[in-house]
Amino acid sequence: MAHQTSIDPNLSREEKYKLALEQVKALVEGETDLIANMANIAALIKETFGFHWVGFYRLIGDELVLGPFQGPVACTRIKVPNGVCGTCVDRKAAIIVPNVEEFPGHIACSPYSKSEIVLPYLENGKVLFILDVDSAQLNDFSKLDKMYLDKIMQQSNKF
Ligand code: SME
Repeated sequence: MAHQTSIDPNLSREEKYKLALEQVKALVEGETDLIANMANIAALIKETFGFHWVGFYRLIGDELVLGPFQGPVACTRIKVPNGVCGTCVDRKAAIIVPNVEEFPGHIACSPYSKSEIVLPYLENGKVLFILDVDSAQLNDFSKLDKMYLDKIMQQSNKF
């Protein structure tokens, strides 16, 4: 079933996250396919906030492999612990990078990405996949983004 996904652009970022979270819950309800749900979640976040790139990488062996995303083409494979994404897997914790040029080892898939947030999804203490969001603005992510993107990621346990 199709869902309405357009969210009023004039709302505050927190109001947008609240609505996006409700839409994620509706999208994943009754759908058990991981790839389908990742695809819709990436599209919803990209459409709602207009970020430069939003997507998932699945951890397969010691590599992150590109999953569903929205935005320009991106690196297909990232070895852990390379880049912000690999560091996130290594630390098993979310990472906010205010300025990607100041993150040692940052992997530049696009010259337009200026700041980035990466969050892991863990099951039984193991990282299964990560969500990566890149912004064309410097310092675009805060604890607010981490809190709501974490809540969105937690919906994955309903798949
Ligand atoms: N910047 C990431 C690589 C993934 S792309 O941004 C989509 C990193 O340093 O791991």
